[in-house]
Amino acid sequence: MSAAQLVLPESDLRNFAELGFLVFPSFLPDDLVSQLRLETDKWVDAGLRAQSIACAVDPEANGVPDLLEFEMDAHGELLAYPPLMDVLAQLMGPSFVFHHMHSDRQAPDLPGKAWHHDYEQSPQGERKFAMVHALHYLDGLDKETSALAVLPGSHREVAEKLSRAHLAENVLPGEVAFGELPPGSTVLLHSALFHTRRARPDGVGKNRYFLDVSYCQTGTHWPPVKPYWRHMLRRGRELGLGGDKWAELFSEEHFLEYRPSS
Ligand SMILES: [Fe+2]
Repeated sequence: MSAAQLVLPESDLRNFAELGFLVFPSFLPDDLVSQLRLETDKWVDAGLRAQSIACAVDPEANGVPDLLEFEMDAHGELLAYPPLMDVLAQLMGPSFVFHHMHSDRQAPDLPGKAWHHDYEQSPQGERKFAMVHALHYLDGLDKETSALAVLPGSHREVAEKLSRAHLAENVLPGEVAFGELPPGSTVLLHSALFHTRRARPDGVGKNRYFLDVSYCQTGTHWPPVKPYWRHMLRRGRELGLGGDKWAELFSEEHFLEYRPSS
């Protein structure tokens, strides 16, 4: 697939600006998805995910993780997947920086996640610069998995991340819910868009392979979410992810110092 094939139509740009999300069904190629699934199994089953969380929660005691998600080949490829980079450049401009990546195999009985947004700013004060989350559903979404719901346009409000948490996972007027997506689908959210993971009511179903990767427009200083963020950016540079085209992808200068969230 060449970059030229991924010029977004004007309507997509308008929709992203106004509604705060875009959906790309079957965006990732099958071989990449298969490899990502294997790596995610390893990430979870070998305790690497648990270790990365422990290092984030208590860096004094646990230091830096033995492995980062994107140090696994397919995860690294996904982080800088050329068609995704091209789309991001059209949404944010060509200068953006990697923020973080999460990889998980979510069990069917995992509780839902109440309405929230993920725009990093403390305190929340304006929406001048874009932050985008790429939500990758390796097996898609279906009746056996939890669903995603978003509240179109809510990214234009200046609100704290949890200001709608009292609404739990409830169906809200005007929401758009995604209960069915084909394998390898990607949903791009403006990170300030309110969204929820709506669990299956019976807790029965199948695992949901879910990877999220976020990126920030440059021009301001962003709060890191990992205490080992410098290590993370250095490893991205050392691995040469994205090649020379995305010069700011792992640049430290776009970040504030790390502060534990209160
Ligand atoms: Fe979220």
